[in-house]
Amino acid sequence: MAKLQAIRGMNDILPGQSQGWQFLEGIFHSVVRRFGYQEIRFPVLEQSSLFQRSIGELTDIVEKEMYTFEDRNGDKLSLRPEGTAGCVRAAEQHGLLYNQQQRLWYQGPMFRHERPQKGRYRQFHQFGVEAFGMAGPDIDAEVIKLSAQLWRDLDLIHHLTLEINNIGTASDRKSYSAALTGYLKQHSRALDDDARHRMYSNPLRVLDSKNAQVQAILQEAPVLANFVSPQSREHYEQLKSLLADLDIAFVENRHLVRGLDYYNNCVFEWTTLELGAQGAVCGGGRYDGLVEQLGGKATFACGFAMGIERLVLMLESLEKIPHDALKSIDVYILGADPDDAAQSQKLASAIRQQYPRLGVISHCGGGKSKAQIKRAYNLGATAVITLLADSDPACASIRRLDQSGGAETLEINSLVEQLGRFL
Ligand code: HAM
Repeated sequence: MAKLQAIRGMNDILPGQSQGWQFLEGIFHSVVRRFGYQEIRFPVLEQSSLFQRSIGELTDIVEKEMYTFEDRNGDKLSLRPEGTAGCVRAAEQHGLLYNQQQRLWYQGPMFRHERPQKGRYRQFHQFGVEAFGMAGPDIDAEVIKLSAQLWRDLDLIHHLTLEINNIGTASDRKSYSAALTGYLKQHSRALDDDARHRMYSNPLRVLDSKNAQVQAILQEAPVLANFVSPQSREHYEQLKSLLADLDIAFVENRHLVRGLDYYNNCVFEWTTLELGAQGAVCGGGRYDGLVEQLGGKATFACGFAMGIERLVLMLESLEKIPHDALKSIDVYILGADPDDAAQSQKLASAIRQQYPRLGVISHCGGGKSKAQIKRAYNLGATAVITLLADSDPACASIRRLDQSGGAETLEINSLVEQLGRFL
């Protein structure tokens, strides 16, 4: 029988890799906590209509990439392709939004049926933050600052560029879309199929085209900035000056429109050159119309999400995961004699009790001591302990695996007390 395999584009995260994930998660959790954001969890499965009504019927995500099926009741459901829609649905359903301010974060798997390649998967994971009920550019600056803080804490800040753009209000974009379609129609013969298709359905997405010939035509196209209302422009100018005050460097990218329809005013992306084609590590912006669009009262909103796989790839290739974070354990108690099993387990318990942050393994399953030491080494242990059989009072010898300091024989109780010296 053929061996079972994971679904293409859906990865297992194995021991050895999961430590990097945990390191990243730990830093993200500490940053969101320091900024006063609270966790929200919501299902991976929602009514398909939630995503159609929020991300937009004519986006790549909804048109081509969602995992959609009918359940046993005949309800049309989709695996979430992103977190914002579910977060808004949950917050609105539970009355967290009306007349309130909320700062929320989430993490978890998202699903998009894209063509898998390095940095692009069909199940991938995001961290996201969403802030509700705040109108001014101060909250835009805050969420951007939060992401910048994360890059600083991860030592990635010098490998990432912040791109920002002002895409105006929905009605600004409508006038602009009409002008852009008019322009593209005049050049339709020189466009590729994708651009020709999008020119009518979602002309802003043509701006994202990777085709050099399409990009050349766009050089002369109408510019969105000229269609943006004075209020949007003022908001954007204020954001830029706040970012400058916060020492957050940015570049303006007039072609940055994002692939989801719910945005307005400021949008942003953090990009890197470290990951080849999949250089977008984090993206977000304001989406002041979405709550109302989904049936709630008009609510100011902004947020971002970042791809965890892409960040882990960056951390690995730039060797930014500290050695300590890759260790699974600190102390390995070698197993000599089956008669010592209880003694060994008790010693492990005593160490765990006194040093709750340490990882301790008491060897199980017998075997040669050389093989046990190798295992201790591979797991990243700093010290190994050997129980001394028939000693009275019970004694053990302890040594650092790197051989520095030599072995010492101690009574078990004082060994527990003095363990810190060996780590
Ligand atoms: P997004 O740009 O679609 O935005 O996704 C955010 C990030 O998720 C991307 O920058 C990328 O790092 C990662 N990502 C997206 N697709 C994949 C994939 N197939 N494989 C690996 N990583 C991927 C959103 O999802 C919005 N909900 C962000 C947001 C939150 N806007 C406001 N609030």
